[in-house]
Amino acid sequence: MDHLLVQGGRSLEGETAVGGAKNAVLPALAAAVLAADTTTLVNVPRLRDVDAMTAILRGLGATVEESLEAGERALTVDARRLAAVSVPDALMRQMRSSIFIMGALLARCGEVTVTQPGGCAIGPRPIDLHLSGLRRMGAEIEEAGGYLRARARKLYGADITLAFPSVGATENLMMAATLAEGVTVLHNAAREPEIVSLAELLNAMGADVRGAGGDTIVIRGVRRVHGARQRVIPDRIEAGTYLLAVAATGGRALVRGARADHLDAVLAFLRDTGAEVEASADGIRVRGPRRPLAADLRTLPYPGFPTDLQNPALAYLLRAEGTSVVTETVFESRFRVADELRRMGASLHVDGRTAIVRGAQRLTGAWVEAHELRGGAALVIAALSAEGESRIDGLQHIDRGYERIEEKLRALGAEIERRTEGA
Ligand code: UD1
Repeated sequence: MDHLLVQGGRSLEGETAVGGAKNAVLPALAAAVLAADTTTLVNVPRLRDVDAMTAILRGLGATVEESLEAGERALTVDARRLAAVSVPDALMRQMRSSIFIMGALLARCGEVTVTQPGGCAIGPRPIDLHLSGLRRMGAEIEEAGGYLRARARKLYGADITLAFPSVGATENLMMAATLAEGVTVLHNAAREPEIVSLAELLNAMGADVRGAGGDTIVIRGVRRVHGARQRVIPDRIEAGTYLLAVAATGGRALVRGARADHLDAVLAFLRDTGAEVEASADGIRVRGPRRPLAADLRTLPYPGFPTDLQNPALAYLLRAEGTSVVTETVFESRFRVADELRRMGASLHVDGRTAIVRGAQRLTGAWVEAHELRGGAALVIAALSAEGESRIDGLQHIDRGYERIEEKLRALGAEIERRTEGA
């Protein structure tokens, strides 16, 4: 297994670039199966989760071809012929987003069998909202022996109110509704930029989706859709991670390609801690304070502070002057990284969904292990701002969502290397 070696204590300076958003590519790849046609996505990041979704599409009989377009990675999905309507358990377990395929396949083929999806170890992640929404649209879903089998000769538009603005459920239901008969109205829909991006792709495919980005989305079903082409939006979570990393080391840098309009809550948080942040046409510039000021943080659905940046922000606050309170409201348990951070000298007290951080003068490098994706990013940030060397195991979790993280940080002058065991 690969690990990272980080020599901390250096201010990050210069510029680095963000890639396409993982959370936009995954539903977009699923949406490609709605059309008996080819769909091309450009600016696709090389990530383990993208590989997993590609494997799912291939397992269904679609072909997925990779190419380079103006230096950017493109994937073309040819879903003209599908050969299967079930996804093997081993692929479903690799990530939670595999559930997206349910709405799209059900709409296209009238039938789909999947198993309970996997994903990060960040607490129970039920799919009840996905299932009840699909049932409201006329799907019959049997759950037995770990399998979920859904059937619908036809899907019908429905009025659906989500009990929580789930990102995945909103996307799944948007895809299913695209080919349903009649109008679907999703109330209390998620408002993330990735939802807007999916709506744009669906509309480019010939769907009729309105209101994405607001809390009510109206989808007028169409009989069929065709292939389309889309450039994937920049990854706001990756961008936020690099902004926090730079700020945590008291450095100054440009994160090229980052979109400030997708990062309002994160930029406001950085400013509260004494960082200077400036949006420009080419990205976001940040200048970190010598030591951050303590700040309280609460994660919320978009446009609130993203839960995916909670662990990275927690790592940033470890060296703050004063005490910060970080509250996680989206997931049940997302402080697993605290034990590892304590090995680096962090003073952290976790009680349920709240973490109290007493800022320390200094952190010290240590041997730590990532157990999931965003916790892994937090360890990288802590290691960069700590004195001495750290070793971060569990790099495969980080590779799920960050493309060549070590290279992107080296571009900022970080001393960080990937080591392969036995190499
Ligand atoms: C997506 C993102 C993930 C991010 C999360 C919240 C992708 C591929 N992943 O995940 O990176 O952390 O949004 O911003 O886009 N819930 C239910 N029942 C359901 C569905 C969700 O109770 O049927 C709960 C979950 O357990 C969780 C909360 O709703 O507590 C948010 O989940 P959701 O918004 O669905 O996250 P994902 O779509 O899985």
